Amino acid sequence: TKVDLGIGDLEKGDFEHYMLKEIFEQPDTIRDTYRGRIRKDQDDIVLGGLIDVFPKIVEANRIIILGCGTSWHAALVAEYLIEEYARVPVEVEYASEFRYRKPIINPGDVVIAISQSGETADTLAALKMAKEQGALILGICNVVGSSIARLTDAGVYTHAGAEIGVASTKAFTAQVTVLTLFAFKLAKERGKIDADTLKMFIGEMLAIPGKVESILLKHPHIKAVAEKYKDAVNALYLGRGYLFPVALEGALKLKEISYMHAEGYAAGEMKHGPIALVDDNLPVVVVSAKDDYYEKVVSNIQEVKARKGNIIAVVAEGDNGLRSMADDLFEVPESHPAVASLLTVVPLQLFAYYIALMRGCDVDQPRNLAKSVTVE
Ligand code: G6P
Repeated sequence: TKVDLGIGDLEKGDFEHYMLKEIFEQPDTIRDTYRGRIRKDQDDIVLGGLIDVFPKIVEANRIIILGCGTSWHAALVAEYLIEEYARVPVEVEYASEFRYRKPIINPGDVVIAISQSGETADTLAALKMAKEQGALILGICNVVGSSIARLTDAGVYTHAGAEIGVASTKAFTAQVTVLTLFAFKLAKERGKIDADTLKMFIGEMLAIPGKVESILLKHPHIKAVAEKYKDAVNALYLGRGYLFPVALEGALKLKEISYMHAEGYAAGEMKHGPIALVDDNLPVVVVSAKDDYYEKVVSNIQEVKARKGNIIAVVAEGDNGLRSMADDLFEVPESHPAVASLLTVVPLQLFAYYIALMRGCDVDQPRNLAKSVTVE
């Protein structure tokens, strides 16, 4: 396979599957998504599609973010970002629940739908309901001119390009990129972060594509680890904070394309159930960063090891503490914890891809799944 080439100008022909191509496109798609949205002096973020409505967003009492599947995971990352930095209350909901559970929508609420396709039936219906009840509705879509993009009052497109693989990869990192820009812009406009902090975060954002590229170059190692675990029956993914949604997304990728049962969990919840599953046949993927949760994640790993589980740790480079405790490591470059989801998800996409490949699965078109779910 030609995938062993470095990352240059990639063509479909260089890859066996669209999913692999799309994973490898991420340095470019993340860059395309923030390009033109960061001022030349790197001192401000400009979201053109939201300029007219931004004063309303700044005044919002609450932000409700809706999505399904992978888009819902991107929404969770946004909840943590917006609450931590912009200090606006955020609720994240599955569109399929929101639309039927008679939610309370008040004037002053801002509802944001996240959707790669812009056509997901539940998300579209939930938005229509929110619009009827007077909320400002915004869209973060990948497909230009899609139904959700047309229905919303305003929005921001992710510039990930067409995504063909049913399991979403580059659309997710593009969504998180837009949401990160949105969160920091909102934090700035609400006076919650100062100019230096904003600049620091913009710098962190600009460094992401190069860091993703360095993770992709480690694909032979990720493939070798996949070979070790490809016959497992179950897998558990754990993460906390910004990396909790990454644990969910890593597990979703694996189950979608390899049909291996995988569960994503908030690491702190392990003791309330999943720990009962741990034995020497269970791979446990622990997503970590040098963040406030580091010590807690270390103790989760010790608990798994004490029960003979196998640890695959996603760690920041140079984290020698976890190196000695884990059975296998996926190293990612260091970053600020607030942007670490954009890095840590990448090895998990590749891990799922290689396991699915080794299990003989149809990676681009997994059974029973559709790229866009336009019916209920
Ligand atoms: C389907 C796809 C997923 C996607 C979800 C939401 O289940 O298989 O990859 O995350 O729909 O799709 P959307 O287009 O709304 O992001």
